[in-house]
Amino acid sequence: MANLKEFMTKDHRHCDDTFAAMEQKANSEGLAGAKELYAEMKEEMEHHFQMEERVMFPAFEEKTGMTEGPTQMRSLIKEVGEAIARDNKERFFGLTETMMIMLQQHNMKEEQMLYTMVQQHLSADADQLISMMESMVTQ
Ligand SMILES: [Fe+2]
Repeated sequence: MANLKEFMTKDHRHCDDTFAAMEQKANSEGLAGAKELYAEMKEEMEHHFQMEERVMFPAFEEKTGMTEGPTQMRSLIKEVGEAIARDNKERFFGLTETMMIMLQQHNMKEEQMLYTMVQQHLSADADQLISMMESMVTQ
């Protein structure tokens, strides 16, 4: 049977890798060169948050009554995009530094506790929930 913790942790690593690739590209080729990876990173993270918010958290809340708020990451992602559009390298790297810290906090908090609890409470529905998340289109 599929495991929600493993599935979501793998998605964290996937987002981390794209984020790191975007920063590397900005370093080597400047912000204009980082545009495509920014768009990829934004879509991957938005998809991740929506898997949590639209599928996993509601199922978890229904089962346990416990709620998890959304992250503040979206506004930061938007600001990174604005820095790229204005070709403001100093602001870009200032924002990505903050974002890196928030990303690590998001990942750590969920991987150490929340996903474990989610998997414990929702193990019977894991296959169904994962297939819902996999087929989910970002809105
Ligand atoms: Fe997450």
